[in-house]
Amino acid sequence: MIAERVIRVTERLTPADLDHAAALLRAGELVAFPTETVYGLGADATNDAAVAAIFEAKARPRFNPLIVHVIDEAAARRLVRFDERAAILARRFWPGPLSLVLPRTPDCPVSLLASAGLDSLALRVPAHPLPRALIRAVGRPIAAPSANRSGRVSPTTAEHVLDELDGRIAAVLDGGACRVGVESTVVDLTGPRPRLLRPGGAAAEAIEAAVGPLERAGADETAPRSPGMLASHYAPSLPLRLDAREVRPQEALLAFGPRPPRGAKEVRWLSRKGDLVEAAANLFAALRALDRPEFGAIAVMPIPEHGIGLAINDRLRRAAAPRP
Ligand code: TXA
Ligand code: MG
Repeated sequence: MIAERVIRVTERLTPADLDHAAALLRAGELVAFPTETVYGLGADATNDAAVAAIFEAKARPRFNPLIVHVIDEAAARRLVRFDERAAILARRFWPGPLSLVLPRTPDCPVSLLASAGLDSLALRVPAHPLPRALIRAVGRPIAAPSANRSGRVSPTTAEHVLDELDGRIAAVLDGGACRVGVESTVVDLTGPRPRLLRPGGAAAEAIEAAVGPLERAGADETAPRSPGMLASHYAPSLPLRLDAREVRPQEALLAFGPRPPRGAKEVRWLSRKGDLVEAAANLFAALRALDRPEFGAIAVMPIPEHGIGLAINDRLRRAAAPRP
């Protein structure tokens, strides 16, 4: 769908605008909107295909996990496991420019693709009235990375968003310039000590005053730097064999396209019709479904190396890499 629509709401969001934007999101479309930090590229976080479309629109070469936006702490607690530190930070900084990385609940409805296969999820409660109204109207958590092409700076006006993404999104809500102008601070609470993953709109000193010293990402040279390298990053227990054009005994098959080779103990399709966006949407769930002890390995058919296929192949190569 073409972004023929800039919904101008600098003055105030009309009920008709809100209904329209919410309906687009519920239908799986991408809608960019302002937050107090930067403009976000929003999608229904519970819809695998919509989340995959975010990566495609941003032309991200890898699946970085995304920040999911919810209305309040109670909504957050339905998606992730809170501990005492999370409760303190949520009460002190939400709504506002702080994102918390916490363990997903077992029945968390957010797409695994938004977590990039991790067992954790980054959540934030925005303060800006516009995304707040939108989250309420959609009634679902909204995944929203910054609304720029991969590798470019984050947009702080609707014009920036259109410069980057026109033609790739259904609409942008124009709420004027962002107040904070840098992304939210990201704090990882999945380990024994809180860890600063990204400095941002909430001051590290204020966070430390609330929960004690923050470990700094990168301070320890042996520490993982990016989520893709995290030890906790989901990798199947079974070995993966990439670029498989035939199936060997005991293998399950991760298939792409209409004509998979025969002989697999079980077949899961990334996409029967060979659609890369659909394949990305199914990737993590399909890997998990095939990762069972009755199989010897997972054979993966070749995935075209273009568009979002780059990110799929990056993730598959990581999952197939030798492990310690
Ligand atoms: O201010 C913001 O946070 C903006 C607005 C739109 O809310 N959003 C934003 O999202 O900057 P994004 O997707 O561009 O940034 C996500 C950051 C990345 O640095 C990513 O690595 C980290 O959060 N992150 C997300 N989920 C994570 C997880 N489960 N574990 C570790 N890091 C995570
Ligand atoms: Mg970004």
